[in-house]
Amino acid sequence: MRVIECTHPDEAAELVANDILAALAKKPDLVLGLATGSTPIGIYERLVRAHREDGVDFSRVRTFNLDEYIGLSAEHPQSYRMFMREHLFDGIDLAPEQSRFPPTDDHDLQAACAGFEAAIREAGGIDIQILGIGANGHIGFNEPTSSLASRTRVKTLTDKTLHDNARFYEEGEVQPQLATTMGIGTILDAKRIVLQAFGTKKAQAVRASVEGPISSFCPASALQMHPSVTMYVDPASASMLTMRDYYRRVRENERSLDELGFR
Ligand code: F6R
Repeated sequence: MRVIECTHPDEAAELVANDILAALAKKPDLVLGLATGSTPIGIYERLVRAHREDGVDFSRVRTFNLDEYIGLSAEHPQSYRMFMREHLFDGIDLAPEQSRFPPTDDHDLQAACAGFEAAIREAGGIDIQILGIGANGHIGFNEPTSSLASRTRVKTLTDKTLHDNARFYEEGEVQPQLATTMGIGTILDAKRIVLQAFGTKKAQAVRASVEGPISSFCPASALQMHPSVTMYVDPASASMLTMRDYYRRVRENERSLDELGFR
């Protein structure tokens, strides 16, 4: 796993957005796996700006979101469909039918989840999967003890996740406890994965994911099995990493190789 310690979340957002834009320039029908939550907002802001100011064309892109709550309509302010419209889709030239979310209102959810997986395969697989991480190490809504081979399915959210996300709900408002999420196996099928983690609250999860044993108790540790994962951290989320100096030195050496023209 490549660990890139950035001075600020903005630096990470810039690096990831530039990475996506470079991939898009090479492949106009790029397939993106998308996350919601506070972490990726800076990436989406930069993609919207690239469209508005530089005319970057997203019209052939296909997107698959990681997860969605069961029981919220697409118009609900806390639904992930609404989040994506607000932060990305309404700001770029992407037709609604090119974006898919894990199913949440089909009568036969299991069959619909299989259909979602099939749609990813038909699109040729996810080129770049964007991830955040929960303080408990979840990716998507694959909570601790999720099978590392899991596919898209319904999950019950842990108390920790419900508590962390309670800030988005008004007092007395019903907070969904169920979500449909890509599985860990689904995520590991992506060709490339970028994960961003910021703030002290994520430090423990970052340490367990990068340096801990692979364990379903920290779902993000499964990323150690993927050949192309870059984790962008800030000084706060990197604070518990034991090999922090080494990751910095790796980055410096990568820069030197770049300058020397190596690929
Ligand atoms: C959301 C998702 C979650 C979040 C995680 C971190 O689509 O997949 O795994 O990435 O809960 O959330 P934030 O970014 O709000 O800290």
